[in-house]
Order: sequence, then structure tokens, then C-alpha cells
Amino acid sequence: MSNHEQKVGNKHEKVETNSFLMIVLILITVAFGGLVEIVPLFFQKSTTEPIKGLMPYTSLQLAGRDIYTREGCYNCHSQMIRPFRAETLRYGHYSVAGEFVYDHPFQWGSKRTGPDLHRVGGKLSDDWHRIHLINPRDLVPESIMPAYPWLDTNLVDSDAMPSHMKALRAVGVPYTDADIAGAAEAVKGKTEMDAMIAYLQVLGIHLK
Ligand code: HEC
Repeated sequence: MSNHEQKVGNKHEKVETNSFLMIVLILITVAFGGLVEIVPLFFQKSTTEPIKGLMPYTSLQLAGRDIYTREGCYNCHSQMIRPFRAETLRYGHYSVAGEFVYDHPFQWGSKRTGPDLHRVGGKLSDDWHRIHLINPRDLVPESIMPAYPWLDTNLVDSDAMPSHMKALRAVGVPYTDADIAGAAEAVKGKTEMDAMIAYLQVLGIHLK
């Protein structure tokens, strides 16, 4: 072995035998790899621009979305149709990034105990959802979905909506001053059930 080869070999041995150095170098490598994958997504049109016709959630739909997160619906339902035949035959067009640009945070979920809900908007009637949410077994006898009867009696917290919309505007959702000014009035007297159904009925309807 030449002198030069021995030196290179020694250097690598240092990395292999010093676990702290190894950890630091692995972290640097992984961080770099991650950045190369993630950073371009912030600048690609297909991931940052809303699809044609996509509207920010109305005050009532937004309230429904909050209840969806509060109740943990995402633990059993995904909102992410993958581009596979078995999925598109069952649920419709696969999900595209431009459909989620007003979602902060998105509700993609990662587990399907129940069906995917990304294209559930317009699929079932308002009455169906109402009965189903009060007691799923009334419509689907074998269902293991929990019942949410309180949604039908709780009123939406209307005072919270304007500040919520302002926060979303700060992260890029194009709400107008008029939207925000009318946000509380728009949900006055509405139940959480009304809000949840309004939200479910708008899911995925902009791309069919
Ligand atoms: C413990 C898991 C679980 C949780 C939590 C859950 N679901 Fe479900 N959901 C299911 C299962 C299983 C089904 C299929 C059987 C049925 O229709 O009841 C279902 C079905 C549905 C359907 C019918 C979809 C279709 O295309 O037929 C809707 C809508 C729905 N859930 C909405 C919700 C909402 C809104 C919440 C939160 C308030 C929620 N679910 C929470 C398990 C769950």
C-alpha cells in the first residue's frame, strides 16, 4: 500500500470508529438530502398555486374544518387519494397539491379505518350526514365509527371566526376585509353540525 492510500484509509477509519463524528456526518448528509427534496416544492407552481376554481373556505366551512380537527376525524379518515386505479375507481380523481393550498394545516391523514373523504363533497345528502354523524349505526349497521350527537346541539363559536380568518390570511389565504368583517355574522346561530356538513360538502368538489 502506498503512503497516500494509507493516509486515505486512516481518515475513513476515523469516521468509522468515532461514533460522534459518524452521527454528525450522517445528520449533515440527511439534512442536505432533505433540503434537495423539500426546498424546490416551495417554488414549483404545481404545488404552490391553487387549482382553477378553488375558493377559500367560507366562515361556516372553516368552522366545520376546525371541528373536524377537534374531533380527530383525521385519525380514521384520510383526505388523500393516491394515483392508483383501485383508488381512483373508488373515490374519483386522485388528489393534487393545488387543491390543498388554502389548507393550514392540511388534513391528509395517514390511516384509513374509514374511507378516504377527499371527494366526499356532493356524494351524500346533507340529511345523510346529519343522521350518520348523530349515530352511524342508523345508516350503516356494521359501522364502527363513533357517534357525534353533540354536534347537533353545540353552537359554532362565532366570535372566534374573524381572528381565525385573519391568521389564515397572514399565511396566504386570500380573505378580503369584507370576508373577515362578516365572518361572525355568517355563522351566528349555526350548529356545529351545520358547519361540519358545510365542510364535508365542499371537500374535493373543484376537481372531478
Ligand atoms: C374510529 C374511526 C372513525 C372516526 C374517528 C371517524 N370515522 Fe367516519 N367512518 C369510519 C368508518 C369505519 C366508516 C365506514 C362506515 C360508515 O359509513 O359508518 C366511516 C364513514 C364515514 C363517512 C361516509 C363516507 C362515505 O364515503 O361513505 C363520513 C362522511 C365520515 N365517516 C365522516 C366522519 C367525520 C366527519 C368524523 C369526525 C367527526 C369521523 N368520520 C370520524 C370511521 C371513523
